Amino acid sequence: MQAPVVDIQNVKKVYGKKGANQSHALRGVSFAIREGEFVGIMGPSGSGKTTLLNVISTLDKATEGVIKIAGSDITQMKQGELSDFRSQKLGFIFQDFNLIENLTIYENIALPLSLQGVASRHIGPKVQKVAETLGIESILQKYPSEVSGGQKQRSAAARALVHEPAIILGDEPTGALDSKNAVSLLEAMTNLNEEHGVSIMMVTHDAFSASYCQRILFIQDGELYKEIKRTASREAFYKEILDVLADLGTHKS
Ligand SMILES: Nc1ncnc2c1ncn2[C@@H]1O[C@H](COP(=O)(O)OP(=O)(O)OP(=O)(O)O)[C@@H](O)[C@H]1O
Ligand SMILES: [Mg+2]
Repeated sequence: MQAPVVDIQNVKKVYGKKGANQSHALRGVSFAIREGEFVGIMGPSGSGKTTLLNVISTLDKATEGVIKIAGSDITQMKQGELSDFRSQKLGFIFQDFNLIENLTIYENIALPLSLQGVASRHIGPKVQKVAETLGIESILQKYPSEVSGGQKQRSAAARALVHEPAIILGDEPTGALDSKNAVSLLEAMTNLNEEHGVSIMMVTHDAFSASYCQRILFIQDGELYKEIKRTASREAFYKEILDVLADLGTHKS
């Protein structure tokens, strides 16, 4: 049996100092993500989703608990180790793309490799390969200002993927996209997951985006509230998600 790509146990996060106004953002969360899974995180505003993503992505420190990613316990790592770990093992897709305007799409995608000191002769083939996977070969020499929102987001996905991370972490990756571009990103992510076995964890408010996941963890008040798995069609899963959100009292149309 392969070790899970993410394995967290009893993770707690308390903001603020003892005695002062403390906020218990995570109250003991445990779950695992297997290699090759596509998992969604949903829950009401303030339930702890971003906090959870931040502690898993090493951007913030958990107050308590164990967080293993690709077998390593990141809660035991020092700052320098963490930043190496982050640049080698994790890929990020954010809502606002974070592409650098004065670099071409090619240079943007190549960035994680350049930062790791990979030789440029090795970079070209890798960029070419992820660009093909995401259907953006034709825009590699353009600048971010010259391409569509969906192409930007797929370029950001390519950059998240180019160094072959253990997992891709997304915070509302479709949040800034119109529905056509959102679908094209979600299909690209599904393709990465199904055809290339890439593990993905994505925080989203949006039931339609979430319906592309294989499994969804619902968080409420810093605790795991419920977990559902897709067993039938995406359409049926979408309805199931809306039902859980209605139970949570957060369904927004
Ligand atoms: N830096 C911080 N300092 C103090 N409290 C914080 C901080 N960040 C978040 N919190 C609190 O922790 C709780 C969880 O916040 P978090 O941002 O994880 O929620 P969320 O589920 O991502 O919400 P949203 O859907 O609105 O983005 C909230 O009560 C929030 O007020
Ligand atoms: Mg949030």
